[in-house]
Amino acid sequence: MAALDPERRVGPEAATPAPEVDSPGRRRFLRFLLSFSVFSTLAMVAAPIVGFLIPPKTSAGAAGGKVLAGTTADIVAGTGTVVALGSKPVIVTNTEAGILAYSAVCTHLGCIVGFDTTTKHIVCPCHDGHFNPANGAVVSGPPPRPLAPVAVSVEKDQIFLVPGG
Ligand code: FES
Repeated sequence: MAALDPERRVGPEAATPAPEVDSPGRRRFLRFLLSFSVFSTLAMVAAPIVGFLIPPKTSAGAAGGKVLAGTTADIVAGTGTVVALGSKPVIVTNTEAGILAYSAVCTHLGCIVGFDTTTKHIVCPCHDGHFNPANGAVVSGPPPRPLAPVAVSVEKDQIFLVPGG
């Protein structure tokens, strides 16, 4: 009968290689991976917070606080169009009352209004609220208040919106 050889393995252990000892290079690589994942997780959490705390620059400062809404060639007589004043929609109308602008947010439930060239009204598509483009007053429908006016200045053929004006 042969004596048992401690180096000789039998059974399922025979197919399993002996565990390797961690090399310094492998440890360094794993540390790098861990550091990278921690850093990228922190960056993913911090980026939206920084974006919220530091708002993007708007074009309002470019022309002394005024924002170019278009030209009289873009917004011809008898029409109106919705433009952005920063993050707020504004409707600019060119009617017999002149070139005027109002908040484009309906005072009923907050839908964005548009200009109806048939009725010559500012119209809300949600519940058919109508506003007078001469003063923003409610003509018909459920809106409880007139549209808030936005100051406009026309220089040559350029139409500017004046935030807070
Ligand atoms: S949201 Fe404008 S009429 Fe209702």
